[in-house]
Amino acid sequence: MSFEFITVHTEADKVGVITLNRPKQLNALNADLMVELGQALKAFDANEAIGCMIITGSEKAFAAGADIGAMATYSFADVYKNDYITRDWETIRSIRKPVIAAVSGFALGGGCELAMMCDFIIAADNAKFGQPEIKLGVIPGAGGTQRLPRAVGKSKAMDLTLTGRMMDATEAERAGLVSRIVPLDKLMEETLGAALMICGYSQIATMAAKESVNRAFEGTLADGVMFERRLFHALFATTDQKEGMDAFVNKRPAAFTNQ
Ligand code: HXC
Repeated sequence: MSFEFITVHTEADKVGVITLNRPKQLNALNADLMVELGQALKAFDANEAIGCMIITGSEKAFAAGADIGAMATYSFADVYKNDYITRDWETIRSIRKPVIAAVSGFALGGGCELAMMCDFIIAADNAKFGQPEIKLGVIPGAGGTQRLPRAVGKSKAMDLTLTGRMMDATEAERAGLVSRIVPLDKLMEETLGAALMICGYSQIATMAAKESVNRAFEGTLADGVMFERRLFHALFATTDQKEGMDAFVNKRPAAFTNQ
């Protein structure tokens, strides 16, 4: 598969790394880039050898938003009839293996929304997050008004969405948007370390964990806890559960087979 707006490689034959690659436009997300991103994610998800994926950008920008130049002349009829955003941004939601966003520099507008669509965010100390769409006369359109309040609470989400200001990595970590902050020059090393740790576990268990945590954002607490309980029960049907627990009991490393 060859791509124009992203680069793709694997690390240790286990981690699929996707780098957004429109550096001159600060990785502004156009439709072609989003289609390529969806194709790359789906290919990694279908590859048995891959246990985790990373989406990253450049030092200066994870992504500075949807491509404003491309959007500027769209009419309501254009965006409604073509199902703008839904058509090519939603693929990531169907990815079942864990996806980590490794964010350095700007993650604004659609860039912040893309990072929030990943399972967790590791931020470099130069990361800046924001939903500046209000300055363009619009609002976030790829889930920002829904995922941001779930991550940082109503007050900060309103502040960011209504003022369009940016928050730095420290504020983002304090607010719960990012899971950890690392020095810029350690971003990929640290993210890869987390990805390889995930790859060392049973793929069935990591997929179930992702599915169950995501359930916390849909439906009631009681439904979510019941969903988790049934997945937890189901994992007792896997070879990996027998292996993981036997390894602990017998004080040896587990060798998972994803069965
Ligand atoms: C298109 C963009 C862009 C974007 C930057 N560029 N962001 N092009 N779409 N979102 C381009 C600039 O036009 C410029 O091109 C080049 O990238 C470098 O940007 P500069 O502005 O010169 O860099 P700098 O001064 O460092 O400022 C960085 C910045 C600023 C603060 C990130 O670029 C900025 O405010 N960008 C827009 C951020 C934004 O509003 N994002 C939300 C978009 S709306 P040239 O050719 O001049 O060198 C959105 C809607 C989401 O995302 C809805 C659903 C997805």
